[in-house]
Order: sequence, then structure tokens, then C-alpha cells
Amino acid sequence: MKGHSIADLFASGILLQEVQVKGWVRTFRSNRFLALNDGSTLKNIQCVVDFENTDENVLKKITTGASVSVIGTLVESQGKGQSVEIQASAIEILGESNPEEYPIQPKKHSMEFLRENAHLRIRTNTFSAVMRVRSTLAFAVHKYFQENGFNYVHTPIITGSDAEGAGEMFRVTTFETNKAPLNESGEVDYTQDFFGKETNLTVSGQLEGEAYAMALGKIYTFGPTFRAENSNTTRHLAEFWMIEPEVAFCDLDGNMDLAEDFIKYVLKYILENCEEDIAFLNDRFIKEEKTKPQAQRSELSLLEKLQFVVNNNFKRVSYTEAIDILRNSKPNKKKKFQYPINEWGADLQSEHERYLVEKHFKCPVILFDYPASIKAFYMRLNDDEKTVRAMDVLFPGIGEIVGGSQREERLDVLREKVKAMGIDEKELWWYLDLRKFGTAVHSGFGLGFERLVQFATGMGNIRDVIPFPRTPQNAEF
Ligand code: 4AD
Ligand code: MG
Repeated sequence: MKGHSIADLFASGILLQEVQVKGWVRTFRSNRFLALNDGSTLKNIQCVVDFENTDENVLKKITTGASVSVIGTLVESQGKGQSVEIQASAIEILGESNPEEYPIQPKKHSMEFLRENAHLRIRTNTFSAVMRVRSTLAFAVHKYFQENGFNYVHTPIITGSDAEGAGEMFRVTTFETNKAPLNESGEVDYTQDFFGKETNLTVSGQLEGEAYAMALGKIYTFGPTFRAENSNTTRHLAEFWMIEPEVAFCDLDGNMDLAEDFIKYVLKYILENCEEDIAFLNDRFIKEEKTKPQAQRSELSLLEKLQFVVNNNFKRVSYTEAIDILRNSKPNKKKKFQYPINEWGADLQSEHERYLVEKHFKCPVILFDYPASIKAFYMRLNDDEKTVRAMDVLFPGIGEIVGGSQREERLDVLREKVKAMGIDEKELWWYLDLRKFGTAVHSGFGLGFERLVQFATGMGNIRDVIPFPRTPQNAEF
């Protein structure tokens, strides 16, 4: 006899044999019915305890949260709603719990409370389902790229560059606070720091990814990225995971095709491989929507939203068309937008993105050809010299899920751009080299993994789709 996972027991049909399972007690009723979960599946296995022949001391310790080992015979269940159960013959308490202090009681807890107990919230159905889907999605990401000839590149986490030029970086230094050496002009002298220069945690692996695409052809990164933006929203984290493919000899159209194909593939993969968890999350989503005012409710269930994205084309719309739509929209005319849209060139806020996706087009939208002035320095300038070959993929309920572009491959144009944006050319010497030696049309994008997990699981807050969220004023655990 060997230990079994609960998922195996439900799948195997090895009836009438002796089995052993180890897990955590969810509930224990009438000194007889023990619901055990080991994280391998959403389902608990019911263990029927022979209380007359079980030590009273052991019975007392079968409390919610305790870890136990159960040996017994797997039989068809008498109870409704479950296929098999264990007639327990031996129960061992592996780790006691304290029912008065254990925070995860068998009742509904608020999401805020669970966030404060992020080390234990994973023992609830909701969080275990979300985290299993997250894991499967991560696998699907690798599967897609590996099957399509992309090389996985590990770009550095500590860098000297600000890829997005937005200055939202966490500094990396070994200087002690208040004891940093100063140079002649009274500024911190980073030449004496660990790396001999200013360094930070990466905001994106793109720049280094481009170097690799210009040799390996097709690459992707999938790693942690860091942004010190003080945004306390349901869509922002200070530490999040980003997936960044980069492809040589690929233009913006090819980039849009890749983003759409990739997203559809990974969502289809979880529909096919996480059926039980998605069904649970779908029920949860429907219940949550019912608590919202009618006007804010999603018209589709989670399952319908996922199927819709997998089965329909994303709508491709230029920034200029989008501005026209927004300018003439009801909420704009009735001054309902917090940021009214008056003229071409305005940066789009999430209220605008969501209007386009949820009210106007009612499907995922790819916006492209944005004004150069609101986008990063590396995007390829169009012939109109006003717009760049940028693209953002916008999703219902999420807003921007992907940001990407065709890259500026012309050395002289890129140099001009770098200068105009006040960036020191010397810091980008190696990036400019890529345009000097064998430059080529190339494109890529970044997809925020947690936003994808949010969409896939229907969770309203990004803090609930990453194990231990980092946000302003919060780095517990
Ligand atoms: O649009 P962004 O800033 O693009 C880049 O970083 C490019 N260098 C990517 C590339 O072309 N290789 O970020 C890409 C995506 C966003 O669309 C969003 O999904 C996610 O990263 N993202 C965040 N997710 C969670 N918390 C944050 N603070 C995020 N900032 C961006
Ligand atoms: Mg962006």
C-alpha cells in the first residue's frame, strides 16, 4: 500500500482496496464524518470514522486545520454528492490544530480577512482553485512557446536600465541608509556601490529580450518584474510576473496575431484541463455578480466569457478611431468620465478602455498606432511621424492585459527619440548596437500574468491571484 492523493482516489476507481491519504481536516461532524482535503483537487474525501474503536484522544484532536493520516478501505459513497469515501480503520494525528485560534473556519470569510491570512487562505476552496489554475496557466504558457519554436530566455532581475523610461523603479544598493558616500557635487556616489553604478529591479525584460531575439529569432521571457508605482488599484501590483515574447523579422500585424493566438491557446488549455476548478469559480463568479448593482453586473458568466474569448476574433481598432468613438460616446457627452476625452493625443485611462471593450465593442479589443508622445521611446515611428506602432490588448473586466509594439529598428530614428526623451545615450549603448549590427524589423509584447489569471478565474482583485501580493504599504509574509 502506498499513499494516494485524493485526486487519484476519485479518478482511479480502486474500490475495496486499502488506501492511505494525508491531508488537512476541513470539517468533522458527529464524531464520524471527516472531510479531508490535500490540495490535489477541490473535492474533499469523506472519511467515515469508526468512533467506537478510535481512541478518544485522537477523536478530540480531529479538528478543522489539523493534519492527519487516514488508512482505510475505499468504498462507494452512501452520501449524496460524492462518488467514493474511505471507511477509516486507522487515523493518526500528524499536526494538531487549535480550533479556537485557527483563522480559516468552515464559513464565508471576507477577502480582506483572507489577505491578512495569506499563509492560510490557500486552504480555502476559492484560493486552492485559483492557484491550481494559475499553475496550469503557467504550464500552458511554456507549452505554447516551446511548441512554436520560441526559446525561453532568463533576462536579469537586477538591471541598470529603465526599460519603460517611466522611472518607477526599486533601487538595488548595498549602501546603508544615510551612510551612502557622496561625490564632489554632493550626490550619492554609485561608483562605490556594489555594481559600480546605479541599479534597480527590472520593470521589464524587453531590452535584453530584444538582444536575444536578434540572435535566436524567437524568444520569450516569463519572470518577475517590479514597479514602484503608487497605484492602489485592483489591477496593480508592485511585484508581478510578465510574459514577454520578442520576434525578429516580425511586424506589428504579426505581433497582434501572436498575442491573439497565444491568449486563446492558454485559455482553451485551462478550459480543457481545469474543468472542476473553473466550474467552481464560475459558480462563485455568478454569486458575486448577483451582489453587485444591475448596471455593473457582467452579462456573461465566467465560463461564457472564457468561451467567448477563445471562439471570437479580437477587434483591431486604431487609436484614432477609438478617440472618435470615445469623444462621441454617451458617458463623454454626459461628462461621466473622470477624464473627459476632448482631443486627439489624450492618454487613455482604464475607464475609457473598459468603455470600448465592455460597452461599445463587447469583445477583446487591440488598439494600435498610438500617439508617439504617450508611449515608450523604443516604439517604431510611423510615416506620419505622429504615431508609433504600439498595440494594447484590452479585456473585459480587466482593461489592458497586453502592451507591446513593433520596435524602432532604424539607428538614426532611435537616437533622435532617445535624445528627445532626455535619456542618456551612453546608458543604452548596447541597445543601440543592435541597430548597428544586423538590424531587422522586430516586435514583441508583455502580458501581465496576474491580469491573465484574474480573467481566467474571475477574481475581482489582483491581490487574490498571486500567493503573497506586494502592494504599497504591504510586504507581509
Ligand atoms: O504595458 P507595459 O508597461 O509594457 C512593457 O513593460 C513592455 N516592455 C512589454 C514588452 O513590449 N515586452 O506592461 C505590460 C503588461 C501590461 O499590459 C499589464 O498587463 C502588466 O504588464 N502590468 C502590470 N500588471 C500588474 N501590476 C502592474 N503594476 C503592472 N504594470 C503592467
Ligand atoms: Mg502598457
